[in-house]
Amino acid sequence: YSVRIPLIAGNWKMNKTVTEAVTFTKQVTDQLPDPSEVETAIAAPAILLQPMIDANSGGRLQVAAENCYYENEGAYTGETSPMALKDMGLHYVIIGHSERRRYFNETDDIINRKVHAVYNNAMVPILCCDETMGRRESGEHVHWVVSQVTAALKGISDDEAKKLVIAYEPSWAIGSGKSASFDQAEEGCYLIRQTVADLYSDEIANQVRVLYGGSVNPDNVKGLMAKDNIDGVLAGGASLKEETFLQLTQYK
Ligand code: G3P
Repeated sequence: YSVRIPLIAGNWKMNKTVTEAVTFTKQVTDQLPDPSEVETAIAAPAILLQPMIDANSGGRLQVAAENCYYENEGAYTGETSPMALKDMGLHYVIIGHSERRRYFNETDDIINRKVHAVYNNAMVPILCCDETMGRRESGEHVHWVVSQVTAALKGISDDEAKKLVIAYEPSWAIGSGKSASFDQAEEGCYLIRQTVADLYSDEIANQVRVLYGGSVNPDNVKGLMAKDNIDGVLAGGASLKEETFLQLTQYK
């Protein structure tokens, strides 16, 4: 039996200026829970990371990245190096968000390479997998979720896998104001944990943290967090305001 420390994470996406990010970080950092009880993270665009790290100095917020490339260096104009993120002191990098898959054509193969690159730089991926309403209605969603997790983890060792964070984010719940029901969210997170158990072992599946994402807000966070297989949330809109992000972190 292992105790999984809850992780309340925000994903700012392409929002906020450096000035806004610094103000936010300074305002929340002293009010966040003890990380040995509830871990808190904000994933932000690369340009905001160092100013946020400086603003958080000594604080409880984990500053995280929303994406990175799969090579450490080279002629890749405009990309963000995982090695540079590690050098900043980062621990988490979101990989494979549905917006990256959809708008930036990230394939399972690219996502798998990025997962390797994050681990090779001694960081931990927050691996996202999505699901569409069409797939849910046609009953294909189970296969779809399993195949995304399986492809992303190809070649990943037991030691790496047990540190993993995976977020279940049904596309129809993202930014729609219409969260999955508590049972649907639990079902998706359970399915992900089972997939990890099938790929690795029950022991590793018990250590992996599975988050739910999609219209999480201060009103539904408690009900989501009460579910057995939901170890945390990945919130977009609700992470943008200091007050609502703090409310998420105080879900207990
Ligand atoms: O990664 C978080 C996300 O995609 C959910 O966004 O705005 O529905 O909480 P939102």
